[in-house]
Amino acid sequence: MSERGVDGSAGDADYGTIGGGYATYRQPDARIEQAITAALGGARTVVNVGAGAGSYESAALEVTAVEPSASMRAQRPAHLSAAVDAVAENLPFRDDAFDAAMTTFSVHQWSDFKAGLREMRRVARGPVVVLTCDPDLVRDFWLYEYAPEVLDTEARRYPVIAELAEVLGGRTTVTRVPIPVDCTDGFNEAYYARPEMLLDPGARQACSAWSFVDEQSRERFAANLRGDLDSGAWDARFGALRQQPFYEGSLVVIRSVPA
Ligand SMILES: C[S@@+](CC[C@H](N)C(=O)[O-])C[C@H]1O[C@@H](n2cnc3c(N)ncnc32)[C@H](O)[C@@H]1O
Repeated sequence: MSERGVDGSAGDADYGTIGGGYATYRQPDARIEQAITAALGGARTVVNVGAGAGSYESAALEVTAVEPSASMRAQRPAHLSAAVDAVAENLPFRDDAFDAAMTTFSVHQWSDFKAGLREMRRVARGPVVVLTCDPDLVRDFWLYEYAPEVLDTEARRYPVIAELAEVLGGRTTVTRVPIPVDCTDGFNEAYYARPEMLLDPGARQACSAWSFVDEQSRERFAANLRGDLDSGAWDARFGALRQQPFYEGSLVVIRSVPA
């Protein structure tokens, strides 16, 4: 979607339709937060772009949140600042206004991710931090056997990491972020050891990729997974994951500082 949706949604997903239960399923995870905090370094003022309900906005920082969707802004807890209604591609701040800029699980939705990243670079004096998924790795997950169209959608949407790094310029590092077995932020890979969770339509809806496949495909997926869980077929193939404390999936944090 390059136009704004009814609720202001500015990306390729319509949060006016799917956003309602987001904060219920997508609570920030403390272990993932550590990776973001480390990448932000000693920043004090931070702009969070595509801030949604405020995940990963540390109370120790002075955060300015930017979020175009009214449904997502409405889910911000009272202790967080109200979000500015704006889009990544046109940030309403002066050059070098913040110590750092961050964006989590958002860049793949922007209508022009390069313009958005250039804007983040422009308004931040120090690190630009992007938590995203590597499209080359998203299919390396058991879910691909059950819902290939969902992960094909993800692989198409997520910008190639090398392109992100090139647009950001400066000195850029890319770090894999291990996903904890009890991850509280319910993106698809967060359920690597809890496949039952993906039988919950609300959990699926909190991952926007599912909104790009039709209801029939979602029902077929749920029937197949339920069948394999009931028969033990899932556990026979993937059950060892239930005991694995962390999963190295497609989640990465990209950090760029000016050269
Ligand atoms: C999956 S949610 C992530 C929200 C939050 N950052 C988090 O980690 O929970 C993606 C967010 O990006 C926002 N978004 C989509 N397109 C955008 C754009 N062009 N500019 C700014 N935010 C955008 C959506 O409205 C949505 O709130």
